[in-house]
Amino acid sequence: MQYGHFDDEHKEYVIDRVDLPTSWTNYLGVEDMAAVINHTAGGYTFYKSPEYHRISRFRGNSVPMDRPGFYLYFRDNENSDYWSASWQPVGKDLSKAKYVTRHGLSYTVYECDYEGIHSEQKMFIPRGENVLLWDLKLKNTGNKVRDLSIFSYLEFSFHHIMIDNQNYQMSLYCAGGSYKDGIIEEDLYYEEDGYQYFTANFEPDGFDCVRDKFLGTYNTETNPQAVIKGECSGSEEKGMNHCGSLMKKVSLAPGEEKRFIFMLGEGRREEGVRVRAKYSDLSVVDAAYADMAAYWKDKCDKMVIDTPSEGMNSLINTWTLYQSEINVMFSRFASFIEVGGRVGLGYRDTAQDAMTIPHSNPDKCKERIEQLLKGLTTYGYGLHLFQPEWFEEEEKKPFDSPTVVPRADKSVIHGLDDACSDDALWLVSSVVGYIKETGDLSFADKMLTYADTYVDGKDFKESVYDHLKRILDFSAEQVGASGICKGLRADWNDCLNLGGGESAMVSFLHYWALSNFITLAEKLGRKEDVTKYSEIAEKVKAVCNDKLWDEEWFIRGVTKSGRKIGCHEDVEGRVHLESNSWAVLSGAADADHGMKALEAIDKYLYTPYGILLNQPAYTKPDSEIGFVTRVYPGLKENAAIFSHPNPWAQAAACVLGRGDLAMKFYDALCPYYQNDKIEIRESEPYSYCQFIAGRDHSAYGRARHPFMTGSGGWSYYTATAYILGVRPDYDRLVIDPCVPSTWKEFKVNRVFRGAEYVIHVLNPEGVMKGVKEIKVDGKLCENVPVFEKGTRHEVEIIMG
Ligand code: GLC
Repeated sequence: MQYGHFDDEHKEYVIDRVDLPTSWTNYLGVEDMAAVINHTAGGYTFYKSPEYHRISRFRGNSVPMDRPGFYLYFRDNENSDYWSASWQPVGKDLSKAKYVTRHGLSYTVYECDYEGIHSEQKMFIPRGENVLLWDLKLKNTGNKVRDLSIFSYLEFSFHHIMIDNQNYQMSLYCAGGSYKDGIIEEDLYYEEDGYQYFTANFEPDGFDCVRDKFLGTYNTETNPQAVIKGECSGSEEKGMNHCGSLMKKVSLAPGEEKRFIFMLGEGRREEGVRVRAKYSDLSVVDAAYADMAAYWKDKCDKMVIDTPSEGMNSLINTWTLYQSEINVMFSRFASFIEVGGRVGLGYRDTAQDAMTIPHSNPDKCKERIEQLLKGLTTYGYGLHLFQPEWFEEEEKKPFDSPTVVPRADKSVIHGLDDACSDDALWLVSSVVGYIKETGDLSFADKMLTYADTYVDGKDFKESVYDHLKRILDFSAEQVGASGICKGLRADWNDCLNLGGGESAMVSFLHYWALSNFITLAEKLGRKEDVTKYSEIAEKVKAVCNDKLWDEEWFIRGVTKSGRKIGCHEDVEGRVHLESNSWAVLSGAADADHGMKALEAIDKYLYTPYGILLNQPAYTKPDSEIGFVTRVYPGLKENAAIFSHPNPWAQAAACVLGRGDLAMKFYDALCPYYQNDKIEIRESEPYSYCQFIAGRDHSAYGRARHPFMTGSGGWSYYTATAYILGVRPDYDRLVIDPCVPSTWKEFKVNRVFRGAEYVIHVLNPEGVMKGVKEIKVDGKLCENVPVFEKGTRHEVEIIMG
């Protein structure tokens, strides 16, 4: 069953049936102010932090689903009928009201046709301003004059997620809402800078600042008392819960259209006056859209693909890049799932995200990498979850209020017991990838602090390069009885808690990080390090092949007491995706074992919805293995189709030249191909989700938790760098595709260090891998060089 379609031309996903099984979300804002909203205008907005600087309130995981939001109501004053611009909250009968929602890149539009009135509510946060615009177009498509009233509604937050949700004897008296000269001001009285405003480009005919006055004590957003009555009550109060409601009466002649701009912004009433004046000029609103469109076009244009895979084209050219960008921007802290109580950077997640899109967002990737390097301890492990502002040289002052912004002290430096064995290893390849993309070798020499010495007040800095050495040394030292890296609190799999037991995946990851680092050491001419780390890498490889192979596949690890996990004797958790894909992807496995491992993935873990994390599911709690054994079979880490590692298997297939398998795996997970299976998938087909329920679960095939997942970045990275094979190197652009033999050709436009590469790959012999001939601007070449900024070059690649 299908609820919408991809509009590639406009880079929009169009939801034609808005009665979706679950919220389909989008993100607004690319700077300090941001919003997460769904297909029925539910959602919330915040300034910098959804934990301690929330602007509007959200009742996550609640009933009715995902409210409140940013609502516009229309009332027909002739017959008292009313409806909303988005299907919810009023929820008109869909056989009488036609609703369409369009999610675009940093904007969403709610369209409605009801009883001869067409409306479009476009939501958007312009660059350079901290304001959420609700741009409403209202048109009379009938043949009689219409007498309508428009009411807006949003619910303000008490700023901090805790204050919003508990201790109401205090919370309910912490903020006030007032109206003056067309502007509602929300004052979080406990805070020095706690102000927001809500205004519009017109003189209102009524207003409400007090939530319960607008809604009515026994009503909800579905049937607000003010809308039923046709008038606001002019409520204001210091204390209680507040809303932003402005009312405007409007008369529309047949065919007449009017436009109204509502503005929800950060700052005091005076800021509201400035912003109101600015966006009352509709050409300024239009210019702001154009600016945002240009911002995204520039990013998307950095790499445009045209392949035989429709799903890959649509997702890579728009949605997977978008998802990856959102992850780099917001880390994992803002969604309908992560509603603000857990913020900061998750070390491993952020490190991986930052690796995936340095071509489209080099500045933000670099910023994230630096934040992570500053969150590294001198022992070589990263702080698993931390706030980057803890380690900024100019530390921000907290508000002088109960809303305490956390600050760094020694307590934030957790010990080895809480260290994850994989966290910082990811960062090595992110740094190397960043340098290869930008050519900025000097980044390796940049001096940065460490988390532990920073809080100790020591002025101790080392280069980025030295930070990486500490990461690699940590993993070399933290090995268990068989020489494989210890699992510690967890490895990539948060629920595999091996402690002093060993993690196969981490040793493979160590090998990968070492291999990447060695290329950097070579490039920088650090010969001693090349020798030292090459020796370590050889040792790691030998131990991996010696200790981890088990007849048909690689094991997942060894418990502290020496039991193998993921071996033939196992009845549960017999085959695991992470270790088998990393054995190959890292280059550690020899070709024969690698191929068998890949085949084991295909044979035991593949499903039409993607690859299962492990099989069979665990059903018996086993504390030596970890929390995974207590997770319901088929959900999350226990035998679900966990999306994030899926691209690892795709990349592994490419390492071994199996383009057919790579695409089989890619297509299975690809949400685009589930667009007509929404009755099963339920979630957004334009976003990868954290996991899809596995075979062992009654909801097999159901996806959950969109956007905030490493599968976005990794899918982008794998499809572009491994399947299409376009990847930067220090002094050239490598083009080394691995595609199904049925692909006859494909095209890629890639901007690399400011030059444009127009790449045409031809596959006359129908091979899966191998390049026979490279022509650059018509001339045969050994490789594709770095060109001068601003130049454009034709590259022809003949596979064979
Ligand atoms: C979640 C976490 C991520 C972890 C994964 C597997 O997505 O954010 O860090 O690797 O689960 O446990």
